[in-house]
Amino acid sequence: MQELLDKYKSVAVENVTEWFKVGVITDFPENSGACIKHKTKQIAVYNFARTGKWYATQNLCPHKMEMVLSLGMIGDKEGIPKVACPMHKKNFSLEDGSNLAGENLKIATYPVKISDGNVYIGFSE
Ligand code: FES
Repeated sequence: MQELLDKYKSVAVENVTEWFKVGVITDFPENSGACIKHKTKQIAVYNFARTGKWYATQNLCPHKMEMVLSLGMIGDKEGIPKVACPMHKKNFSLEDGSNLAGENLKIATYPVKISDGNVYIGFSE
């Protein structure tokens, strides 16, 4: 379990060593999530069209270790963009991955870059 979680570490934009192309903008539904794979990781990508922003997080929900976050509803809580896990509705910030109820659960976040209609996720390994 812990081993699975340890695969996912947040990447700050200044630490990106690889911009991995995951598709074109139209591959990603608006105001929703989609799942992509990078090496052994499953990454949830969110096209937050309502605010014109994109986010990426681990797809793994740390609550019960389910690969489901890309299926969660996105929205905002007091101005913080968030995803609600579809299983038990725990809410995570899309900006820093923290649990919005203050629980000791955190998800990794990754930078997203849009260039010439292509979508890239930043990785450091
Ligand atoms: S598995 Fe995600 S909230 Fe329980």
